[in-house]
Amino acid sequence: MTTWPTDLPGLGWGADYNPEQWPEHVWAEDVELMRRAGVNLVSVGIFSWAKIEVSKGEYRFGWLDRVLDLLHEGGIRVDLATATAAPPPWLTTEYPEMLPVRADGVRLSHGSRQAYCPSSPIYRDRATALAAEMATHYRDHPALAAWHVGNEYGCHVNRCYCDTCAESFREWLAARYTLDQLNDAWSTAFWSQGYTDFAQVLPPRVTPTFANPAHVLDFDRFSDDALLELYKAERDVLRMITPDVPVTTNFMVNWTFNALDYWKWAREVDFVSNDHYTESQSPDRHIELAMSADLTRGLAGGKPWLLMEHSTSAVNWQHRNIAKLPGEMRRHSFQHIARGADGTLFFQWRQSRGGSERYHSAMVPHAGTDTKVYREVCQVGAEYGRLAEVVGSTVDAPVAILFDYRSGWALRQDAHPTADFDHWQHVLGYYKALWHAGVTVDFVAPGTNLSAYSLVVVPAFYTVSDAHAAVVADYVAGGGHVVVTYLSGVADEHTRVRLGGYPGAFRDVLGACSEEFFPLRQGETVTLTDGSTCSLWTEHLHLRGAEVVASYADGPLPGVAAVTRNAFGNGVAWYIACDLDEEGLGRTVGSALSGAGVAVSPKGVEHRGIELVRRHGDVSWLFAVNHTDTDAQIEASGVDVLSGTKVSGRLTVRAGDVVVLREEV
Ligand code: GAL
Repeated sequence: MTTWPTDLPGLGWGADYNPEQWPEHVWAEDVELMRRAGVNLVSVGIFSWAKIEVSKGEYRFGWLDRVLDLLHEGGIRVDLATATAAPPPWLTTEYPEMLPVRADGVRLSHGSRQAYCPSSPIYRDRATALAAEMATHYRDHPALAAWHVGNEYGCHVNRCYCDTCAESFREWLAARYTLDQLNDAWSTAFWSQGYTDFAQVLPPRVTPTFANPAHVLDFDRFSDDALLELYKAERDVLRMITPDVPVTTNFMVNWTFNALDYWKWAREVDFVSNDHYTESQSPDRHIELAMSADLTRGLAGGKPWLLMEHSTSAVNWQHRNIAKLPGEMRRHSFQHIARGADGTLFFQWRQSRGGSERYHSAMVPHAGTDTKVYREVCQVGAEYGRLAEVVGSTVDAPVAILFDYRSGWALRQDAHPTADFDHWQHVLGYYKALWHAGVTVDFVAPGTNLSAYSLVVVPAFYTVSDAHAAVVADYVAGGGHVVVTYLSGVADEHTRVRLGGYPGAFRDVLGACSEEFFPLRQGETVTLTDGSTCSLWTEHLHLRGAEVVASYADGPLPGVAAVTRNAFGNGVAWYIACDLDEEGLGRTVGSALSGAGVAVSPKGVEHRGIELVRRHGDVSWLFAVNHTDTDAQIEASGVDVLSGTKVSGRLTVRAGDVVVLREEV
């Protein structure tokens, strides 16, 4: 099986290319400018359905043939879309029942994109028919390097509440439960919700007040599966017709999206690809980027992955769309490469003139090529050209974060002890502490064997099966170190609370147990005995063998343990029962790291904001990214691959700069 875009020379570099937005005379110039920028891979046709299938079964490939021929002549490989991401108006007009329906019953209209119900048999038939046409037509085209199925499944429509979905949901449930099991798993004795026939079960549409949490969680799982089935249907068609062309679909592993369980999706793609956009207002946006890259590498099972989209500068969909400063796009690109990507592409090649994304940056801006953006694009393209030697190398990490999508789904539901909790931001808080400590992190799925890691962070692992809880306990018993954070282990896989004291799934391994949650008021902070503070969350914890690391000095629970440490078997389990401030979290994570024997703060690095990551192959490459406005010195020796200079002992990484050092051993 082919697991990477074929015949790609070195690191992938390019963009979504949407030539259908431009008159044909622009295309030759596009290819010429791509060559100047070192572009070697573009995604084509993602939103071209209306131009390819102009009416039912009537396909027009001529224009796309000419585009692919031009790209091929220019030496540019093509990640060809199946073009199914945005059904054309002729299709939704003929079959309005394929349009998605919101929880409040409103059927959405065409006029933007992704206007289809994930369970619609019509969409599925037409999409697989188009994928088959595309594959048959382009199977022998020399530019074809990979297939790009759909686009960001679930980006806009990830839950649909129509009657077709209701029917599919019932089938999904009936395949997993008897009626009795369903009533039990969903705790339907509460509020008189008992079902006597599957036909009575609906998608969780708008109800007078809170919906049933287990019902909502199962609908989340069902909806995820429905989208995955759509992807697989297209993929299987492609695999049949072009068995040697790898297939992917671009994930959204980032702060904006939490609708799909990518651990499951990752098993179904030939290579993992991801889209990442920074939160432009956040001063720590590069750290969130690093977390997304590490999680994507985890999804890829440690193998190289492709950044399918990011932005050269501003996006168009945030409240304030802040442009990137000179050097920022370059740093972002290299961060992804440092963390295991073997290529980075942008949305998009040429900035649109019309349409809702006309203020979104691109590789060629509205102002043309004499611009900061295009110059930087050419610079990075040339630098990537010198970095082919890192292709295929991997990243090692001593620490893992256990990341669970379902816990994120469950915790965003209503009627929890606080509505202030955000799963991604919570994980990010721990990731930041590790990033500042200079520790490289892997992400792992629930149930993963953890023995390769010196320390594992288990943040808000809320809905936990007995089997997954046992994996964590066995790891600690065998000598592992864990940091478990509040809201972990509270519920079973149907969001039913585990009785006998929180966190039910982990109280033995933690040697501690809470009798009551004490979330804090907005703006309220509590001081801890070690001088740190916490906000958002505290709980009434009792010791059952653990030692106290810090307790509350004030607030609703003075004297109660807030951070504990427990010797369990041959290992150690920390419990952080409150939402620590950045400094306290850094200190506690630092103690856990040193207790687990993990080296922090690489030698010679005195500044916060210097990112150091290694890729390993036959040799190792140190990627040093300076996010600060002062020069940094680090101890290192080798050859600076970008400049060719030799470095002996002391490496200067200039303010805002990136260095890739082939290290001497
Ligand atoms: C992605 C999408 C692209 C483009 C981009 C803008 O979500 O895949 O087509 O819309 O966002 O940032």
